[in-house]
Amino acid sequence: MEKRSNFGSKIGAVLAAAGSAVGLGNVWRFPTEVGNNGGAAFIVVYLLCIAFIGIPVMLSEFLIGRHTRANTITAFSKLAPGTWWRLEGVAGVFVAFIILSYYIVVSGWTLFYFIQSVGGQLMADRDYSLVYNDFVTDPWMPVLMALAFMGLTHVIIARGVQSGIERFSKLMMPMLLFIIGILVVCSFSMPGSSEGLRFLLKPDFSKITGSVVLSAVGQAFYSLSLAMGCLCTYASYFRSDTRLPKTAMGVGAIDTSVAVLSGFFIFPAVFSVDSVSVDAGPGLVFITLPSVFNIAFHGVPWLGYVFSGLFYLLLMLAALTSAMSLHESVTAYLLETFSISRKRAAIIVSVACMTLGVACSLSFGMWSHLTLFGMNLFELFDFVSSKVILPLGGIIICLFTGWYLDRRLVENELTNGGTVRFRLFRLYYFIVRYVAPLAIAGVFVQELIA
Ligand code: PFF
Repeated sequence: MEKRSNFGSKIGAVLAAAGSAVGLGNVWRFPTEVGNNGGAAFIVVYLLCIAFIGIPVMLSEFLIGRHTRANTITAFSKLAPGTWWRLEGVAGVFVAFIILSYYIVVSGWTLFYFIQSVGGQLMADRDYSLVYNDFVTDPWMPVLMALAFMGLTHVIIARGVQSGIERFSKLMMPMLLFIIGILVVCSFSMPGSSEGLRFLLKPDFSKITGSVVLSAVGQAFYSLSLAMGCLCTYASYFRSDTRLPKTAMGVGAIDTSVAVLSGFFIFPAVFSVDSVSVDAGPGLVFITLPSVFNIAFHGVPWLGYVFSGLFYLLLMLAALTSAMSLHESVTAYLLETFSISRKRAAIIVSVACMTLGVACSLSFGMWSHLTLFGMNLFELFDFVSSKVILPLGGIIICLFTGWYLDRRLVENELTNGGTVRFRLFRLYYFIVRYVAPLAIAGVFVQELIA
């Protein structure tokens, strides 16, 4: 078996974990949720959820991973040998595998839209909802795109922790932040954009209902990549002098900045065009935005190619760094448990995910009639993983660190064996014991009955 690797630098560790967190959830799902839940008020609640629930749960995952220095399943077995807690590790790796198989489908769409943008086809005055529907129901193109995207992820994972994950995260994350900066500046300079800014900055607290709060908790979890074993796996590669609280805050800050900046880019742009609406749902980035690009850059199409090209490149890079972490969560388990080489483990994961991914992609077209509980395969995977296993996993991780693990072990790991201070330890411990499990249980029940 190969020697277990570590991230070579602290910044590499932060960027890799931030890469896992920053993904379609930030640029695609977050603006959609903001649009559907009334704008600024939702953002305020979301920020509170990140700070008071998301970051503490992330810290718990970090300490489990780094303390055991193992993949997620082995990590739980090491800390709680012979108990049912092990199942949490199994669920995490299983969900990472399921999410990856449908995540590559939407990631493939971003690749297609990127190619169409730079090729100029996207700016050619079309009915964008027709373009979108024709594309996603086509039996070939979306499948090909998903496979190409998976191929890209595979190549990076097969290279290993330092020369694959760390190196590419260090390259892609700054690029991603740079692109989003350009997009925000351009978007602000569009006429009429101030309406969008008002939507994002003036909270109307009467809009906060129970379901808004619960959507915010759910979004925070998804966006920070919690409860799927990804951050636990990455933390197992952290160095022993990496400060876990600082790293978790850094990751939370980067993830939240990208989500909020995506809102700052998308809404001013959308408001600058009268004929499109902000609550278009998931179609916001694949149907609404192309119309915005088209209308806004009608006079200077080449600028439209550049602008929309940059946007879909941003979406694709974000998706790629997240897909890497999902892949690694499963690959690490295979290579450590069955003592096979990283290349072989990665191939098994890629081929299995591609097979399921093809089925997920076809479930929009040819296989759309195959449904269970009224959902096609893609929707079913999304529902079971993000609405059932994810919240349950979140609760279990909190109970595990807050109640099962010895408090001294937890404190010791978070303070690097007592060598660094963690002033907020008591607050953290109170949150993982009481606040977070209750809040997540609320989301879970609400999602199930909704
Ligand atoms: N956090 C990613 C996003 O915002 O798109 C999605 C994700 C990646 C969820 C990895 C879970 C995960 F383990």
